[in-house]
Amino acid sequence: MFDMLLPAPPDAILGLTDAWKNDPNPLKVNLGVGVFKDDAGNTPILASVKAAEALILQSATSKSYMPISGAPEYGACVRELVFGVDHPVVRTGRARTAHTPGGTAALRVGADFLRKALPAAKVWMSTPTWANHKGVFGAAGFVTADYPYYDAAGKGLDFARMCEVLETVPAGDIVLLHACCHNPSGVDLDAAQWGIVAEIAGRCGWLPFLDFAYQGYGDGLEEDRAGVLAFAQVCPEFMIASSFSKNFGLYQDRTGALTLVAGSAEVAASAFSNVEIAIRVNYSNPPAHGGLIVKTILTNETLRHQWVGELDGMRRHIAALRSRFVAALAEHGVPGDYSFIARQKGMFSFSGLGTAQVTFLRERKSIYIVGGGRINVAGITSHNMEYLCTSIKEALEVGE
Ligand code: LMR
Repeated sequence: MFDMLLPAPPDAILGLTDAWKNDPNPLKVNLGVGVFKDDAGNTPILASVKAAEALILQSATSKSYMPISGAPEYGACVRELVFGVDHPVVRTGRARTAHTPGGTAALRVGADFLRKALPAAKVWMSTPTWANHKGVFGAAGFVTADYPYYDAAGKGLDFARMCEVLETVPAGDIVLLHACCHNPSGVDLDAAQWGIVAEIAGRCGWLPFLDFAYQGYGDGLEEDRAGVLAFAQVCPEFMIASSFSKNFGLYQDRTGALTLVAGSAEVAASAFSNVEIAIRVNYSNPPAHGGLIVKTILTNETLRHQWVGELDGMRRHIAALRSRFVAALAEHGVPGDYSFIARQKGMFSFSGLGTAQVTFLRERKSIYIVGGGRINVAGITSHNMEYLCTSIKEALEVGE
């Protein structure tokens, strides 16, 4: 029966890593998947994570099942990270958190829960958005719609058009927003703009769902909360998908969380019991290891301090790379103004390269970039910088 199925296309992002691995060209560069790399091109395990793992190894006594929504202490750590210390939403019991296998499972569990809570809702997504968003919400059975976000000509945020469309979203629909480090554009809202969007959500009655996969990679752990805090002020109900792949470097440990905020502790508890059903029928209960690492780091003052330093270091490394890349493009005589790359936040940059140029770079230069022109800035090193700039110069001659 399976021979009826046509082969599925490779994944738009993870498929590039497979192709890159199989590429024999010694000059090959992977600027596809969003993974932090140091200047040697490695993705090291954070020292704080190693130290936490050593502590866990010593103290662990059982590998029995986790609760469906994970350890309560983990949930408390996540809420403090997301909202800050002693936030009223948390203090009053209006926020409940489930430990999920990565940010993707947080989105999928959230989507399954929302499909039950709001079966007639549409899910609105930014243009562009993370390549997997439509897949995740579509797989949960949702119809999706788009709202304007990126202004390709101005290489910035099209805030006016974004708000114009968000004003038309019906009450009870869901709007997916990138809390910081917009993936793929690297273009974010500032605190004042978040306040305006939250006010629209509150007035129109749509449900904000924040994808918070890069906390700490934008302007800092606290600064990156601006969107979350804006919604917490205005909206009685919203949801947050956290990922600890990038900020703790726990990519392969699949560590994330889904936080549900409701108007009262009672509503939060009953709604959350439905989140637990969505988890039980998907994967039963979460894998423990990554959550133990996050909890161990966040509850140990020394490790937490070390981790914050390591996260700040990764953010500064990427910011410095952005400036160096802009300067190197100019030095190599690549035509155009690339100063926008230095203004973007997080791992990604929308390079402005068109489909033909992305294909040329992959096929002729073994430089792997996500379709649409997204590059992972963290994949640039002092060793591949020159090759990258000269190749981009050649690609521009190809035309878009
Ligand atoms: C990315 O956008 O590259 C990351 O979020 C990894 C992924 O799963 O796509």
